[in-house]
Amino acid sequence: MTAQLIDGNALSRQVRADIRERAAALRERGVTPGLAVLLVGDNPASQVYVRNKVLACEDVGFHSVLEKYDATLSEAELLARIEALNQDPAIHGILVQLPLPAHIDDHKVIEAISPAKDVDGFHVASAGALLVGEDGFKACTPYGCMKMLESIGMKNLRGKHAVVIGRSNIVGKPMALMLLAQDATVTICHSGTPDLAALTRQADIVVAAVGKRNVLTADMVKPGAVVIDVGMNRNDEGKLCGDVDFAGVREVAGWITPVPGGVGPMTITMLLANTLQAAERTGA
Ligand code: GUN
Repeated sequence: MTAQLIDGNALSRQVRADIRERAAALRERGVTPGLAVLLVGDNPASQVYVRNKVLACEDVGFHSVLEKYDATLSEAELLARIEALNQDPAIHGILVQLPLPAHIDDHKVIEAISPAKDVDGFHVASAGALLVGEDGFKACTPYGCMKMLESIGMKNLRGKHAVVIGRSNIVGKPMALMLLAQDATVTICHSGTPDLAALTRQADIVVAAVGKRNVLTADMVKPGAVVIDVGMNRNDEGKLCGDVDFAGVREVAGWITPVPGGVGPMTITMLLANTLQAAERTGA
């Protein structure tokens, strides 16, 4: 059996159509959702990501500003800029593209963003809200993965075992909490997990979020399982690939996300969803 694809581009188009409509309704009431994207330095991958975020804003009728700074920008200057954006009523979401140059403390910068504008969902207030089940912005990548599961009828996950490979603050940990919030039984695996395959073979849902090729191979997957691939790597030919051995795993899994065209487009779309939510919350 060959797995069915969960098409991130198609789902993204559907979700964006709804966002576009809601943004238009907000604009009629005099509020244009606004996102500020801050990039420090000239990391080539970051340049591509921020451009795509700005283009996505245009696509759904948001206002966006892209602020690019030289790698020599001081931490104090960046914090001052964030404070000004916190006070700016035209800006509902603030995103500081990571990684930042080494002389700037990521943590300090993220905590400087007002939790009301933390559309990346990285602030401790957002992470804490997710932990205790309160309202808050959800980190975009795991939020997109949850939407992908929902799109194939997997919303209530009671009775399902989900295995998350990776424990980053940006993906692995929030992913596990979102799955748990839907009543899944969740196992978090990482580089110190002794027999990864023994755990993934029990999983109804596997999320691979490590940043390394071939972390999940066909022999590690239960027939019919749902496999979500968060990885973004390059293979030996320089082609984009995920953490999952796609060709092998698709012959065993029931559903699988491709790379590219899977989780990636959903991440940006959920950033738009968070920005819209931030604008709607301003009470307009
Ligand atoms: N760098 C890589 N992914 C992300 C992301 O989702 N948000 C931010 N701010 N930086 C990133």
